[in-house]
Amino acid sequence: MTALLATRVARADSASIADAARILAVGGLVAFPTETVYGLGADATNGAAVARLYEAKGRPAFNPLIAHVIDVDAAKALARFDADAERLAAAFWPGPLTIVLPKAARCPVADLATAGLDTIAVRVPDHSVARAILSAFGRPVVAPSANRSGHVSPTTAEHVRADLSGRIDLIVDGGATSVGVESTIVACLGAPMLLRPGGVPREAIERALSRKLADTPHAAGHIDGAPLAPGMLASHYAPRTRLRLNAKRVEPTEALLAFGPIPPEHVERARSVLNLSPGGNLIEAAANLFSHLRALDAAGASAIAVMPIPEDGLGEAINDRLKRAAADR
Ligand code: TXA
Ligand code: MG
Repeated sequence: MTALLATRVARADSASIADAARILAVGGLVAFPTETVYGLGADATNGAAVARLYEAKGRPAFNPLIAHVIDVDAAKALARFDADAERLAAAFWPGPLTIVLPKAARCPVADLATAGLDTIAVRVPDHSVARAILSAFGRPVVAPSANRSGHVSPTTAEHVRADLSGRIDLIVDGGATSVGVESTIVACLGAPMLLRPGGVPREAIERALSRKLADTPHAAGHIDGAPLAPGMLASHYAPRTRLRLNAKRVEPTEALLAFGPIPPEHVERARSVLNLSPGGNLIEAAANLFSHLRALDAAGASAIAVMPIPEDGLGEAINDRLKRAAADR
């Protein structure tokens, strides 16, 4: 369970912006205004901070997050731009457009923030407070809308307080946001595709690209043919090796994904072993989940045996992700 934090609300000024950068640097959570909606920010390069962010939002699963950066050069340290992405960035950044791109080779963003995907969503916000925080902090900031999962996106500091008080460190109050809806999300992974309508209209994007956006694929049999949640469009990261969940014992040909103290007979038998959290901490486990899965997937084992993980707190999201990975084949 999340410990109750004393959430501070501070008017946006040079002191609160410096505080925000200090809190982000030590893995804390800061809500701040962007031109679209308030975002809940964490250091994108700190897996444990990202895990705490999912927990504060009460996300039932790990949806990939948007990395916010100060300018297009900073974005290029995270992602590979094609010609369409270059055009979109030149036309709409800073502004309410998010672009989904292939991750750059040495992208420093934590695996958990992109839910283990090889793609990353990036955006350069157009709000003086968001920009001041990004510039003071000097690293990418992941920021989903600053609401509890399933609630509407907040456009004032008071909305954020009502939803997240006691769960985050600081709310920087910069007044009501101007756009009021989330950023438009366009994937540039081939033919540009609209993943989420938002602050920049489709027509403006098509004009900048001099071409039509590809249609969002619809979920087979989905009610009303509604689009898939954007995060679902990019195929999930799924290990090639079969996953065996709630494993009580491990075979010599198997790799072991452990949680908490490992029974000694497991260590002797398993082909390779990685522990999500030797001390049984679910935040640490979430931060390690995707990188450990990748590492064990490369071990050439007959299967990855996964020790039982409790369902409380982030355990629910971890187990959700593991179940999908086990079924994805
Ligand atoms: O306006 C906004 O975009 C706000 C402000 C705070 O910047 N942020 C926001 O974040 O709306 P969030 O987490 O509420 O929505 C991000 C969406 C999610 O639906 C997620 O699935 C999608 O972006 N997304 C993130 N990374 C993705 C990826 N690699 N591929 C496809 N979709 C992705
Ligand atoms: Mg949201």
